[in-house]
Amino acid sequence: MADFLSAYSIQSWLESCPQGYLEGTEYGHRPGEHELSLLLENQVLHTDAIRTTVQLVVGERCALAASSGLINAAPDEASKRFLATQTLDEARHVEVFTHRLYDLGVPKGELEYVIKRYANPNLVKFAEILLEKVDKKDFIAGVVGQNIVLEGMAFSVFEMMYAMNKDVNPKFGHTLSGTIADERRHVGFGENRIGSLIKENPEKRPAIERMQKDMSYFMLATFADAFRQTQALDELDRLGQERVHTEYQGADLGAMQPAEMEHLLAGTVLKEFKTRLGRIGIEYQTPVRP
Ligand SMILES: [Fe+2]
Ligand SMILES: [Fe+2]
Repeated sequence: MADFLSAYSIQSWLESCPQGYLEGTEYGHRPGEHELSLLLENQVLHTDAIRTTVQLVVGERCALAASSGLINAAPDEASKRFLATQTLDEARHVEVFTHRLYDLGVPKGELEYVIKRYANPNLVKFAEILLEKVDKKDFIAGVVGQNIVLEGMAFSVFEMMYAMNKDVNPKFGHTLSGTIADERRHVGFGENRIGSLIKENPEKRPAIERMQKDMSYFMLATFADAFRQTQALDELDRLGQERVHTEYQGADLGAMQPAEMEHLLAGTVLKEFKTRLGRIGIEYQTPVRP
């Protein structure tokens, strides 16, 4: 418990995060960085960027509701303090991605309308399954749903987006890399804290395995929708823009079609789930393929 206490303390959060990799940033990026003008000028790419960013806001709003809701369900003081730091991280993620929507030209008064219009219904269902556990103050299921399933998914999605954006859109790339560093800490907490609790409460296993299976189903459905909806690659081809050759999970994203990217992302996340759930003594359940 001593390592756990220091690794997830507010003190180490202060040193590594606000006084560390976020120092000098502005809404998650370096001061003076701007959105790509191509994204602002081209209708297809603009809509695509807004739709993608809306999913990030929806996911982060869910993480904010879950991490704050779990504070009062936590059985020990160290977990409460960690979740308080996570709550601020998630609120920051909501803020930086909301700010990106403003930078993309969404008027402040239309924010909620734009989010409602573009939010993927499958991602909304995914979030509801988790928030139901949080509402019932089910700490173990809530942490598995949030810090393993939701954040395991977010982590892989952000890494793929980072690979695609780091060279062409440094502003978005920097907001993603700061978020990835936060998510790494959150996933680590889930694994470290929950293993022993599951051992002490084996009767909780079946319900947690069912939740993971249901959440995984809606995650895969969200990925399928997202890669089907995107017209960005076709549009870049039409404009004669060269594809960006960048590596993710040993593959060249610049040589892939959307369906292949979806397959790679889904495979990566599910493999991660299997490993992480195995470490905490939960048997991974394969979802039905949407
Ligand atoms: Fe987050
Ligand atoms: Fe997180």
